Amino acid sequence: MSPQPQAAVGAPLSRVDGRLKVTGQAQYAAEFDVDGVVHAVIVDASVGRGRITAIDTGAAERHPGVLRVISHRNAPKLPYRDNSGSNNLPGRRLRVFQDDRVLFHGQPVAVVVATTLEAAQHGASLVRVEYDAEQSSTDLHEAERDEPTAYARGDADAGLRSSAVRLDLTYRLARNHHNPMEPHATIARWDGDKVTVWDKTQWVMGTRDEIAAVFDLPADAVRVINPFVGGGFGSGLRCWPHTIVAAVAARETKRPVKLVLSRRQMYFGTGFRPTYEYRLRLGSDRRGRLTAATHEIDAETSSYETFTEGVMAPGQMLYSMPHVSQNYRTVPLDVNTPIWMRGPGFASASFVIESAMDELAHKLGVDPIELRRRNEPSEDEAKNLPFSTRRLRECYTVGAREFGWDRRNPRPRSTRDGDWLIGLGMAAGVYDPGRFPAQARARLHADGTAVVEAAATDMGPGTYTSQTQVAADALGLTMRTVTFRLGDSLYPQTGPHGGSSTMASVGSAVVDACNKVRQQAIELAVGDEESPLHGVPAGDVVVRNGRLHVKGTPARGETYRSLLARHNRPQLEARGNYAGPPAPERNSYNAYNATFAEVAVDATLGLVRVRRMLGVYDAGRIISPKLAESQAIGGIVGGIGTALLEHTVTDHRDGRIVNANLADYLVPVNADVPRVRAIYLDGEDNAGNALGVKGLGEVVQVGVAAAIGNAVFHATGRRVRELPITAEALL
Ligand code: MOS
Repeated sequence: MSPQPQAAVGAPLSRVDGRLKVTGQAQYAAEFDVDGVVHAVIVDASVGRGRITAIDTGAAERHPGVLRVISHRNAPKLPYRDNSGSNNLPGRRLRVFQDDRVLFHGQPVAVVVATTLEAAQHGASLVRVEYDAEQSSTDLHEAERDEPTAYARGDADAGLRSSAVRLDLTYRLARNHHNPMEPHATIARWDGDKVTVWDKTQWVMGTRDEIAAVFDLPADAVRVINPFVGGGFGSGLRCWPHTIVAAVAARETKRPVKLVLSRRQMYFGTGFRPTYEYRLRLGSDRRGRLTAATHEIDAETSSYETFTEGVMAPGQMLYSMPHVSQNYRTVPLDVNTPIWMRGPGFASASFVIESAMDELAHKLGVDPIELRRRNEPSEDEAKNLPFSTRRLRECYTVGAREFGWDRRNPRPRSTRDGDWLIGLGMAAGVYDPGRFPAQARARLHADGTAVVEAAATDMGPGTYTSQTQVAADALGLTMRTVTFRLGDSLYPQTGPHGGSSTMASVGSAVVDACNKVRQQAIELAVGDEESPLHGVPAGDVVVRNGRLHVKGTPARGETYRSLLARHNRPQLEARGNYAGPPAPERNSYNAYNATFAEVAVDATLGLVRVRRMLGVYDAGRIISPKLAESQAIGGIVGGIGTALLEHTVTDHRDGRIVNANLADYLVPVNADVPRVRAIYLDGEDNAGNALGVKGLGEVVQVGVAAAIGNAVFHATGRRVRELPITAEALL
């Protein structure tokens, strides 16, 4: 086959759904207009652990408009069939209203259903719950650890003992919450034994399968719809208890039910990036060649499920060294279960490793970039595999040049601007992008337009646009004549919209489906005596702007429309498939970055202001440069939050989250976001998929916090090993 000309891929296009979004026509989960919908409000536990001893629902039930109050005392027993898919985790998932146990502060203990939202809210405030409270355990430092997951190569302890230079550093990372702009929300409607759910999720198929498992329904009795997501960052990667609550409430009241979590409820109704305590010991020779590292990693999880993430990988493969040992221990606490959050695991590990590398560089008097270059591995030393592509050196070179690294005086606290101490820092980042099996369907209509569908999600990166780009080029159509649809479990199935997997996975399935449709049309034409393409080898035909022609001879050809009309075909249709990564893997396949930060720190007040940031990315081929730039800016903004602002504070006396609101849980606002620049190296990585992409949504946040922390050190000479870095820590 002649390769198709690429017109849309690589072009800096605006979002195809941009107009819908800015005119309010894009419908988010809670905005669907479902006939007869009533409202549900969750009553959440006000103790951190214990038993419910009494629930008085009388006042709530007498309140005008209240239809029903459901709790474990009157809720139906639910089958909760095993479901290891849907991103359920090892353990026993929270079962809503199935018993009197309270496992964490904020757990749903009842739901009030009413004809209006106001009645449901007031009804919820009237429910009186009594508890036999027990002392909850929410402090990572005080609780028992699980058995570790271990990794080792060489002999790290011996390696450290014989290292000329040694560091022993402990870092503490705050818990972060995703805080998407759109709260999590569900509308559930039963039609007999079937249920339709409009739900904020990053995985309609996973939510479908979980609802089917909880109610013991066949998968085709559940339909999940979710065409737009107002931000996710990972919070929608599994089906949370409130979605089940909405479905239970709808079934019990025989009315469609809408349930929207309040901002406060988002802090325990969905997951979070877990807090970490991470002790890193690092050894090197006098020139900075790393010899050994030990990683003691403790992270919170819930008492009922074990959440783990890719926090071990960077310590195994980012730098070359013979001796590594790692112990990763989860610490079960009386909290709800964590979940992946942007750059999951890698971002947390990278703060530690990249801060430590900066400490080592300073100790040795070696430039931080030069130190990293000296430890660049020639293969993945954990997997013993060659890298597919790894252009980290180029990221350093381009980043140093574009950021003006050579103007940096290496001495800390050497640069001032009035009251402000100025610092430059950098860090490397890596992320192992996910790749999940995916399917798609493409239909070319007789009028020359096409519709492509997959049960994918667009939480903001621009899936609608980027998938339309790859579909348009594979079909030989313009962007305007292709419609991409997603967010419905009736569409061909895909994996979760997370882990930077969507373009590699869904995109590959879309291209496969579109290639097949184009191929069908070409076969039809070259075998048709009435076609100008009759007898031309199929491999010599390409399609542009909906017109098939001989490659290099544009005059000889015809349009899809004339071809389909002559053959009386209303449409051509094909399904595409992406099977997932090759097994066994032949390459170590990762996206990389070098991130640079310039900060100003008020010399007397300790206030940190980020002045400039630059990220340089090796993320494979870039399908949609304008949207990729937005992704990078978003990742850097998220990283600024992790570095300087975001911190979930729990009152360990009763497990209550103290700052469960956007006034007290600080996220970056415009005034916190400086000049941010993103540079993609572009270039294909064909090890993982035919599109040559690696995935970029996660890697853009990895390394950001370390780059800022390193810049703060350079500005002040003060090393803060705790996130977020606050003014108090710098006083
Ligand atoms: Mo991303 S943390 O996989 O949504």
